[in-house]
Amino acid sequence: MAYYVTTPIYYVNAEPHLGHAYTTIAADVLARHMRQRGEDVFFLTGTDEHGEPVALAAERLGTTPRELADRNAVRFRDLAQQVDATNDFFIRTSDEQHVAAVQEVLSRVERGGHVYLGTYEGWYCPRCADFKTEGELIDGNRCPIHKIELALEREENYFFRLAAFQEPLERLYAEHRDFVRPENRYNEALAFIRQGLNDISLSRSQLTWGVPVPWDERHVFYVWFDALLNYYTALTYARPGEDLTGRFWPATVHVMAKDILKFHAVIWPALLMAAELEVPKRLFVHGYLLMEEEKMSKSLGNVIDPFQVMELYGTDALRYYLMREVSFGQDGSVSPEGFETRYTTELANEYGNLASRTLAMVARYRDGMVPAGEAPEALVRDFAGLDERVRERFDEVAVTAALDEIWRLVRRLNQYVQDEAPWQLAKDDDAADRLDQVLFALAEGLRVVTVLLHPFVPESAERLLAALGDEDMSLDRARFGAGSGGTRIGELPPLFPRVARAAAA
Ligand code: MSP
Repeated sequence: MAYYVTTPIYYVNAEPHLGHAYTTIAADVLARHMRQRGEDVFFLTGTDEHGEPVALAAERLGTTPRELADRNAVRFRDLAQQVDATNDFFIRTSDEQHVAAVQEVLSRVERGGHVYLGTYEGWYCPRCADFKTEGELIDGNRCPIHKIELALEREENYFFRLAAFQEPLERLYAEHRDFVRPENRYNEALAFIRQGLNDISLSRSQLTWGVPVPWDERHVFYVWFDALLNYYTALTYARPGEDLTGRFWPATVHVMAKDILKFHAVIWPALLMAAELEVPKRLFVHGYLLMEEEKMSKSLGNVIDPFQVMELYGTDALRYYLMREVSFGQDGSVSPEGFETRYTTELANEYGNLASRTLAMVARYRDGMVPAGEAPEALVRDFAGLDERVRERFDEVAVTAALDEIWRLVRRLNQYVQDEAPWQLAKDDDAADRLDQVLFALAEGLRVVTVLLHPFVPESAERLLAALGDEDMSLDRARFGAGSGGTRIGELPPLFPRVARAAAA
């Protein structure tokens, strides 16, 4: 089955931060898991480069929007690489193929009668690139997100007849009750639609940094139309000479935070309907990473640096922490202290030590060969159904819940070592069979959890599976007893070594 997953495309006027890393990692975890299941996966991320925020940032820096975009797109591309994202393409909205495809789709929308010329007057936030309603403003005329004073702007715009899509959108929501997940976001989006929709600006006439409106080159398209279409246009040119649209459209899941829910849950499906294209199957809206209870963002200036965490502790540690600490779909606090605790107690002790101890005991007591043993009943029972449960969680995009399921078994294995005390069995010649069974069970359990953990901690999982002598990562192998022992183990330096506190501070 085709599985097409996307992240939002990030604005190039800011630098990459932990919030961007978070969404990209989550989407990557989904993509990797689905590949393990043998699905036909396409994973897209990229940069949103047009519009007023970028033009203004460039002006402030005394450079051109294109230069600024070129410079910062590289940084977002690097971020994706450094978090080990396996994106199949990196789209930039300044790509000429994207620009041409946007013009083509929106011309079709115009020909379909969904566009008219009008005058806009409203409170415009240049940082959001969005008009605010009176009700949204705070302290008189300030942006609720950026807290800056907004000006009342008036200009000639082309308008998209969004209001006409109220009914079709309500129908879409009625027929696809999981169109937006989690459910509270579905309810929020539907309530917004039911409130009544206004037509919205499709173009801007005071700006030149954007995709020119083909039927009136005095205008450029409002950046959100250009940006949303990336999910569609990328498929038309990601593989030169090949159009992937038939294979991957409609998208399986668009992942994003709640800040851009309205655009994706209302404007995007309406636009696709107007263009007579299929709407995506699902939007998954995760929460905010909070630092000291404030939404972490560049403009509020309380950013923590994912690059530093990765340098000190490794990429897998960052991936694990973010997926584990904050229940995917909800807001949650992150902190250096919280990170260190999870790193030490869970990655280093519960998982890393389990791996080193198991390998060391197989080396010492069985000359480096995992014994071919009979799986103990108790563990077989505890592992039963684990892979199905993980699959189900992933089908619901419940990434943290999937990780919780797996981690329960990591803990179960730790308990098992304590209970069985193989180092005692090793002293007793009569317990040789029992020791075989225990060592087999440990190696096998470790292999199963590691196959399942692979999407979260890919590098560590690969190293550990190689050391266990069984590198097959397909999800069908994530069953206790799918391995039968008899493999030769290899060396494994500590997966999650101690990091000096001073270095981390
Ligand atoms: N360019 C638009 C998106 C266009 S998509 C067609 C945009 N860009 S952005 O750079 O501001 O990225 C917003 C996204 O970054 C959020 O939706 C979320 O995926 C991620 N995050 C940014 N800060 C975050 C947190 N503090 N917490 C969680 N996610 C964060 O909006």
